[in-house]
Amino acid sequence: MKVTVVGAGNVGATCADVLATREIANEIVLLDIKEGFAEGKALDIWQTAPINLYDSRTVGSTNDYSRTADSDVVVITSGLPRKPGMSRDDLIATNAGIVKTVTENVVKYSPNAIIIVVSNPLDVMTYCAYLNANMPSSRVFGMAGVLDTARYRAFLAEELNVSPKDIQAVLMGGHGDTMVPLPRYTTVGGIPVTELIDEARLNEIIERTKFGGGEIVKLLGTSAWYAPGAAAAQMVEAVVRDQKRIFPVCAWLQGEYGYSDIYLGVPVVLGKNGIEKIIELQLNDAEKALLADSAEAVKSVMDVLDNMNETA
Ligand code: NAI
Ligand code: 2OP
Repeated sequence: MKVTVVGAGNVGATCADVLATREIANEIVLLDIKEGFAEGKALDIWQTAPINLYDSRTVGSTNDYSRTADSDVVVITSGLPRKPGMSRDDLIATNAGIVKTVTENVVKYSPNAIIIVVSNPLDVMTYCAYLNANMPSSRVFGMAGVLDTARYRAFLAEELNVSPKDIQAVLMGGHGDTMVPLPRYTTVGGIPVTELIDEARLNEIIERTKFGGGEIVKLLGTSAWYAPGAAAAQMVEAVVRDQKRIFPVCAWLQGEYGYSDIYLGVPVVLGKNGIEKIIELQLNDAEKALLADSAEAVKSVMDVLDNMNETA
């Protein structure tokens, strides 16, 4: 299996490292626009192979997409973080330009790839990749929910002093403050979490989850990469090993949950064909209202991109 990771920055390099160390792909191409950067990161990762005892080969490329040809999966992490003085619309315009060019190049050399978008703002960058990929939406989707549920599960494990392995959770909506963690679908070793934590404390953990990305930005001065890179790699693994894993994924909705023509986080089955099924939960009225708020927030950002494309 061949996997390309575009963007050899913090998230991209971490993702490549996890893919290599866990032998999720036997060939990993790391590509970046910065001269020599991907080659350097790839060389460093490759030199961990004799220490970590694996065979997967990681190579780097400065913007030469012929090196990515016939990739089975491509992860897109290229993009700029928001800088001081930059408006949200400026960020959308800059990153949409990057994601558009990257997607066109990816598809030119790997027309049968599955594309996993990581670049922010996530939901709209996934939409941007979809608009430029000319592929079925089952093959173009975004990573956010795996990271956001990982944060939620880590906070719950800490609170309950139990293994994070035993915490299962569903979280829906956009990748932002309006995301919707669902306590009714959160279990600890099969036990509903609501039987183990009181409502007030659970709400505090949910709030911390919603702002989990910002918490790390405050501490580090830049956004997270270990968990985001690992989360993207876990989605790649589900595809290349045809695992049929159930993950919250940023997916194109066509009527599911009453929404159409929107990329939104929902639980899906991930396998060799990408999104093989969107799972529709029976949400109650309160959950539906939270999802509606989140969908509205995502739609408003998608509209910014649509307006930019119309006036271009
Ligand atoms: P970074 O700045 O460390 O890396 C980004 C890389 O993209 C840089 O090396 C840059 O040279 C490269 N790049 C820029 N334009 C390119 C182009 N046209 N072609 C190829 N490479 C290009 O940033 P980091 O921390 O790795 O984050 C990457 C993206 O992922 C950001 O947009 C960030 O906001 C997003 N992110 C998303 C998460 C999610 O849950 N979906 C979680 C964490 C980060
Ligand atoms: C995160 O959630 C900023 O999307 C990035 O860490």
